[in-house]
Amino acid sequence: MPNDNVKPIPGSEILSEEAPPYTPLEGKTVLLGITGGIAAYKAADYSKKIRALGTRVIPVMTKHATEFVSPITFAALTGEKMYTDLFCVEGAETIPHIELARSADLFLVLPATANIIAKAANGLADDFLSTLLLAFSGPVLFSPSMNPAMYAHPATQANIERLKTLGYRVIEPEIGETACGDQGKGRLPEWSVVREAILKATTPQTLRGMNVLVSAGPTREYLDPVRYISNRSSGVMGYAMAMVAFRRGARVTLVSGPASIPHPPGIEICPVETAGEMEDIIGKLSQDAHVIIMTAAVADYTPAVRADRKIKKNTPELRLDLVRTNDILSQLVKSRKGRQIIVGFCAETQDLKAQAIKKIRLKGADLLIANDVSQPDAGFDVPNNRVLIVSADGDVEALPLLHKEEVGERVWDRIQDLLLQDTC
Ligand SMILES: Cc1cc2nc3c(=O)[nH]c(=O)nc-3n(C[C@H](O)[C@H](O)[C@H](O)COP(=O)(O)O)c2cc1C
Repeated sequence: MPNDNVKPIPGSEILSEEAPPYTPLEGKTVLLGITGGIAAYKAADYSKKIRALGTRVIPVMTKHATEFVSPITFAALTGEKMYTDLFCVEGAETIPHIELARSADLFLVLPATANIIAKAANGLADDFLSTLLLAFSGPVLFSPSMNPAMYAHPATQANIERLKTLGYRVIEPEIGETACGDQGKGRLPEWSVVREAILKATTPQTLRGMNVLVSAGPTREYLDPVRYISNRSSGVMGYAMAMVAFRRGARVTLVSGPASIPHPPGIEICPVETAGEMEDIIGKLSQDAHVIIMTAAVADYTPAVRADRKIKKNTPELRLDLVRTNDILSQLVKSRKGRQIIVGFCAETQDLKAQAIKKIRLKGADLLIANDVSQPDAGFDVPNNRVLIVSADGDVEALPLLHKEEVGERVWDRIQDLLLQDTC
């Protein structure tokens, strides 16, 4: 959504390109195994969403799954033939379960019934889906969904453990009210959780072994217990940087100012409010980090005095004294540990390139990512960003308008180049 609140600065050029859709699974094929659980209807919605990530989605249903949702629904939503029958004469000359197993990049079983979990844990192959599972040698994700008692049953739990020892990945079901009205663990997770599991399973683990520290979001500088000075940072760019690192195998800690973004699965979050809190925690956590990304929009000034009680409106004018906060990025550079890579983000409203080159020279970071927040289609509050990647030698790479996760991928590609140079 364009940001109507920001007026472009006079003379700044408004670029009216459209960001391409974010399709990280372009060129891939996902097998979607649907089994006979009540959450099969959600698989119909998720199949569309998986497809929107750029991949082919080939639906494979158990006979019992077709009792819940018609096969036509999946065929129509995915634009693919739906497979259910192992002994189907049509197409038998190619042995479909072997052909499909060879051609796919990921197998997602969603919803996974207690029954398919038990069968897969024991290597049973008595229908199309379970046979295809045995024939498939790529990454497999199970998303269990069932009544809490069925999920908690020692047999189901033992079967899930067995799946993990066989190298299958299991997406934890959520706690809440299940379709049968019972409360407990067994609900199919939200799309955002399934999406992350899919992206993690299909992303090469190029950052395995790396500790990554990311800061994100705005800070709040309090005038009194109820009022603060803040900025319009949503935190989306920083969360995207953290999520991309996690997908690539890094251990990620995210120090987040107040942001209304769901907690990304697998990432440790340290919530903070003020610039001072951000500085303290980053200082401590930076000791063990191989890469530090300062995406947070940390306040440059904070009130000199924070009133203990709410300031009353009994004077016609109120003047605020503000004092400078510490520059966390510069401090990190000064106390850099060994070959630590330090990346800064800056938001500007004029002379973006010149300001960014000046800033990276002044601060000494390895990369500076500069975004012009006066543009209505990029920066604060919107899903896309248009940035310059400035390197320490002043080289500037201008990226087009992209989804923030794609910006995150491009920036991480550049960081990985720096990490490679360090090891050469
Ligand atoms: C109305 C209804 C809802 C069901 N929901 C679930 C469910 O959510 N999860 C589950 O594991 N089994 C559920 N079952 C039981 C499975 O359908 C049954 O175990 C079946 O054998 C699964 O076969 P499949 O794994 O080959 O699809 C349900 C059964 C019925 C009749």
